[in-house]
Amino acid sequence: MLCDTRLLLNMAKDRGVCAFNIYNFEILKAIVDVAEELLIPVIIQVSEGGLEYGGGLSLVNLVKTHLKGTKAPYALHLDHGRDIDVIRSAIKWGFTSIMVDGSHLPFEENLKFTQMVVDIAHRAGIPVEAELGTIGGTEDKITGDMHLVDPAEAEIFVSKTGVDFLAPAVGTSHGAFKFKGKQEIRFDLIEEVSKRTGVPLVLHGASSLPGWLLDEAKRSGVDVEGMNGVPYEVLKEAVRRGIRKLNADTDLRIAFITGLRNSLIENPGVIDPRKHLNRGMEWIKRIVRERMEILWNP
Ligand code: G3H
Ligand code: 13P
Ligand code: ZN
Repeated sequence: MLCDTRLLLNMAKDRGVCAFNIYNFEILKAIVDVAEELLIPVIIQVSEGGLEYGGGLSLVNLVKTHLKGTKAPYALHLDHGRDIDVIRSAIKWGFTSIMVDGSHLPFEENLKFTQMVVDIAHRAGIPVEAELGTIGGTEDKITGDMHLVDPAEAEIFVSKTGVDFLAPAVGTSHGAFKFKGKQEIRFDLIEEVSKRTGVPLVLHGASSLPGWLLDEAKRSGVDVEGMNGVPYEVLKEAVRRGIRKLNADTDLRIAFITGLRNSLIENPGVIDPRKHLNRGMEWIKRIVRERMEILWNP
């Protein structure tokens, strides 16, 4: 059933709730199949690019319809909302939380933009996640360098904006190439920001790219050279320090592509896309199940 995102994060207490990006029915269905089997809360999130790909309201209606009659608790979250029109639409369409991403703006402007969005969202009863510092990496619409969060700024930011959840930049980055050289996740920053702000924290760029997945991806022909992620043990330590929501998109992308490639290569005569898509979904289920079990169980 679709629930308030705050409820899911409160249920977590000292556990981690998985947030997975979706943009089509196959990814949604794979995640929901696993959540219904495990009965563990999960956040389904859609980026601006994901909404554009999925046809906006059509995708949202698909999610809502698919969740009718389900037993596990789900939330529907707008990921990296930068466009105020998209944010307003998400609120109107029934998202249970939204992220306002003003991380590309200077501190004062991020604060003002976030305040404005919090005002709009809270009047509609919708909680808000904001980003402070800059989570680096590359995706469709979000590219940039990493700037770590300043805990003193985080304290001011949360008290002045009234955001419900905060995504501090603590060393992770988006995409399949997360760590270069000595770069690492800063547990001390997570702990200090958690203590100073008192709000549930969100870890972006939290895909793990486990060895088995990269090995299988490589076997299927994906160029995995230089790809790396955040090991599960590191994620669990981040949860102990105050992280409650852990975002993953890249893990699912790699799993989906691996399944599709395997099926396409093994079955060159099969022209029914459903056969190949089913294999892609099987692979998404593997990574989703592993992640949910590891992060939810203390
Ligand atoms: O952090 C954002 C997600 O990975 C979504 O990326 O903008 O390519 O859909 P996208
Ligand atoms: P990954 O690139 O590590 O999957 O992170 C996704 C994310 O942070 C979505 O907001
Ligand atoms: Zn992100």
